[in-house]
Amino acid sequence: MDLKEAIYNRRAVRNFTAEPVSENVLRQLIEAAIQAPSAVNQQAWTFSIVRDKALLARISREAKAHMLRTSPFAAASPHFQELGNPEFDIFYHAPVLIVISAPAESHWAVEDCALAAENMMLAACAAELGTCWIGFAQSWLGTPEGKAALKLPDGSKPVAPIIVGHPKSPAPAVPRKEPKINWVS
Ligand SMILES: Cc1cc2nc3c(=O)[nH]c(=O)nc-3n(C[C@H](O)[C@H](O)[C@H](O)COP(=O)(O)O)c2cc1C
Repeated sequence: MDLKEAIYNRRAVRNFTAEPVSENVLRQLIEAAIQAPSAVNQQAWTFSIVRDKALLARISREAKAHMLRTSPFAAASPHFQELGNPEFDIFYHAPVLIVISAPAESHWAVEDCALAAENMMLAACAAELGTCWIGFAQSWLGTPEGKAALKLPDGSKPVAPIIVGHPKSPAPAVPRKEPKINWVS
């Protein structure tokens, strides 16, 4: 798959088979991720890999409760209705979660991790794997308990929780809005 195909074929995948993703493939995805640019070439990212089902279930449970507790918007919005459903797994039963973090003190932690995440998602697509950025997990993973669950030091900032797995079925394309283009001169 060439770059253009990966860019246009990548979709948020929310339906996975139970097939595990091998360590070798996970290492290849991380190799692709670290080819991303980083501010002042710090490359200060850490990739936390979670494959334990019980830990994934715990993070899902804690993250839902945290969102409902701390975000009045989450409790009110129809988009977030599933958060109150004990059956809802925010990771859609994916076999792997990769959380990309950077030191919280880094001025560009979010930018660096997001760029690495996109590289990783494109590389996964080219390897016929599905991925989805799980924003629902972010708030709780940023708490002391969340960082402890990932065995990260307290000075870390988890930015990009990305699920990875073998798609059960192709994810439908999501239409794009017309971009607002501001031709300044
Ligand atoms: C920062 C961010 C947070 C997201 N959080 C979630 C999430 O918590 N759950 C989910 O199912 N999808 C999540 N997504 C995926 C988006 O819903 C998805 O990318 C969007 O609908 C466009 O679809 P596409 O990726 O297939 O083009 C997130 C995407 C981004 C970039």
